[in-house]
This record gives sequence, structure tokens and C-alpha cells, in this order.
Amino acid sequence: MEHFPIILALLRASVRDKSAAVVQHAERLREALQKSGADDEAQEIELILESARQSSAGKLVPSRVVRSRAISSGEMITANTFPPVDKETSAPLAEILTVDRLAELAPPILDTRLERAVDHLAEQWLGAHDLQAAGIKVPRTVLFFGAPGTGKTRLALWAAAKLGLPVVLARLDGLTSSYLGTTARNIRALFDFANRYRCLLLLDEFDGIAKLRDDPQELGEVKRVVNAVLQAMDARAPLGLTVAITNHEGLLDPAVWRRFDVRIEISLPNAATRMKIMERYTEGFAVNPGSIKVLAWLTEGYSGSEIETLCDFIKRHMVLYAEKEPSVMDAVHLFLDLSATNRSTPAREALAREDAYWVPQALAYRDIKIVQADIADATHSTQSRVSRLLKSAERI
Ligand SMILES: Nc1ncnc2c1ncn2[C@@H]1O[C@H](COP(=O)(O)OP(=O)(O)OP(=O)(O)O)[C@@H](O)[C@H]1O
Ligand SMILES: [Mg+2]
Repeated sequence: MEHFPIILALLRASVRDKSAAVVQHAERLREALQKSGADDEAQEIELILESARQSSAGKLVPSRVVRSRAISSGEMITANTFPPVDKETSAPLAEILTVDRLAELAPPILDTRLERAVDHLAEQWLGAHDLQAAGIKVPRTVLFFGAPGTGKTRLALWAAAKLGLPVVLARLDGLTSSYLGTTARNIRALFDFANRYRCLLLLDEFDGIAKLRDDPQELGEVKRVVNAVLQAMDARAPLGLTVAITNHEGLLDPAVWRRFDVRIEISLPNAATRMKIMERYTEGFAVNPGSIKVLAWLTEGYSGSEIETLCDFIKRHMVLYAEKEPSVMDAVHLFLDLSATNRSTPAREALAREDAYWVPQALAYRDIKIVQADIADATHSTQSRVSRLLKSAERI
């Protein structure tokens, strides 16, 4: 739908008069588009109608799509838009994730400070329309880095959904090729595609293409590829939104590193954040607040994704053994036995032994206040039994 932006502009101008006929025809157009599968276009029209309904005294509030146009312009991605492919293998260089597919994603739960930084960035993007009108530059090139499983990819996808932008997700397997010069050509094709459409370009596992140029093993080709990335990023900078993600930030070439307007480290969650993550993933299950606190202690050093895995295990255990009314700690012990790791923590070591070892450690945890009643909650015990246990622990 090549001229669709003109139709939108016409609509936006005409609904301002609040003519019932205009609104009726716009609704007809929206329904027709929806029926023919052009969901994104239908949504754009709905947003214009919605902002017309909400506007008071004839003043139109810029819709989410109008606002996000300020950070990413270009043609709309439709059901008939296909990602570019590698010329030799026909492997797709990217995957397109439509706004509908992203809409249900909840944002990752982040430490308060980090959340504030991310919110600030999102505000700048949502306010890009006004910022640019005032001649202020909006950051469009962002790097998320940090440990695996901390919610980096989820954060990028959620941001796109919030802005009403589809995601062009680069496929590393399609982009990289063992033929000389092909990877660089694929990168140019990927960026050309992203620059043509209104989208968020997501370069996940970015270190795979933007690694240090001084790697002696594959020098010539790495240089060629990184130079292609640098040129492509420079050309894209004024056009659209680019988010790159890595958990090997040390591998990135310094020149690439400098290209980012904003760099955000997504760290492992602190104790308060871990509690919130566990509350989300145990919602609807009988996991009491004392158990959540003890879980926050024992998951020190866990990523959001690892916490989700633990919560899934606990929920499964609770359903399977419902008649025995298992405690959260029963499930935790089993989980630890079934998920051996080479990354030991003091909590994990203490939990491998008797209760007399881990209970004093949990009670001495500094990041959150854990009391005997919490231990009783987590072990389905009583406070007096916990206190007897502590007395016996003193003798160990
Ligand atoms: N902070 C968080 N809050 C809530 N859920 C989280 C959080 N971090 C991770 N998760 C859960 O773990 C899943 C995987 O996270 P995600 O893929 O975004 O991590 P990542 O940082 O991109 O990891 P990697 O570096 O390995 O690619 C998410 O879809 C979500 O279900
Ligand atoms: Mg990821």
C-alpha cells in the first residue's frame, strides 16, 4: 500500500472537522482493511479515530503511530512485506515481528534505577515529535548489554510494542556467510530494508557481527564486516531506531561502541527486584510472602530467566503434589538436585546440607530482612520449631 501515508494524512486533516460522514467512512475503511488482513493499516486508522474521539475543542492529540513516525519514518510493513534474503542461500536475513505479535509481552522487571533510565528513554521516543519540533536530537541508536537472561531482548521487544513499531529482527545465521564479502553485503541489504520501512531494527547477539577488528584469526573479513556495520549505522542514524544487544560487550569494536547514543547495562536483579519477579511468576499460586523472601535470598546471582525457571518448577511441584501440601522449600531442594551447576553460591552450598546450615544464613541476609516467621512460612513449619532449630545450629 504505497500511498497509504497520504490516505492517513487526508484522514487526519478531515477528522479534525468532526464530520460524522468522515468518521463513518474512516470506520468503513478500517473494517475493510481489517477484513483483507491489513491489520497494521487498520490499527493506524483506529488510532486516528481514537485520537479524534479523545480530542477536546477540536485539538488532535498526536496518535502513538504519528508520534513514533518522528523516530522512524518510511513505508508500512504489511503482511505482504518479506524480509531480505541471502542471494546465494536464500536464507532470510531478518525476521519480521508485527506489533500484534509483540502486544502481549509484559516488560521485564528491572531494578528501580534501571527502570527509571529505561522509562526516560521511552519518554524521549514517545515525545520525539515535540523534541524534534524544538530542534532537539532524539537518541536513536541504543545498546543493551549485560549477563544472559536478564531481559534484554524482552525489553527491546516491549519498547517496540509500546511505540507501535514492528521489529525487524536480524538473523545472525542468515547474515553471516563463509564466502568472502557476503556477510558485508548482507549487512548492507539488511540496513537498506530497515531504512525503507517504519520499524525498530533489532540487532540481537550483536557481537557476532561487530567484533573487535584485531582478532588475528580472521582479520581481513572481520575488518570488512565491521566497516560495513559502521557505515550502515552512520547512514541509518538519522532515519530510524536501532537497538543492538550483546552479552559480550568486551568483544565489541571500540568504534562500534562509540556509535551508540545510549548504552544501558542490564544487570542481574537485586533482592527487591527478584522478589517482584517471583511475585509475577508465582501469581495465582499459594506462595506466601515469607517464601518469596527466602527465595530472594537463595536466588542471589540469578538472572530473571533463571528465576522464571525456578518459579515454573515450584508451580509444577505444587500442582503435582497438591494433596501433600508441599512447602516451597521442598520444591527448592528438589530443584537444586535436578539442576546441578558449576556455579556454586554460599546459599546453594548451605542448602545442600541440613536446615541448621541454611536457616542462620538466610536470617543473616543483609539485602532484605528475613525473620523466623518467614522461614516457618517457607518450610511449612512453626516459629517455635525454627527457634529450636537455631538453638541446635548454635551447637554445630
Ligand atoms: N527482568 C526480568 N523480569 C521478568 N522476566 C524476565 C526478566 N529477565 C528475564 N526474564 C524472563 O526470561 C526470558 C528471557 O529473557 P531475555 O531473552 O529477554 O533475556 P536476554 O537478556 O535477552 O538473554 P540473552 O543474553 O541470553 O539473550 C524473558 O522472556 C522473561 O520471560
Ligand atoms: Mg537475548
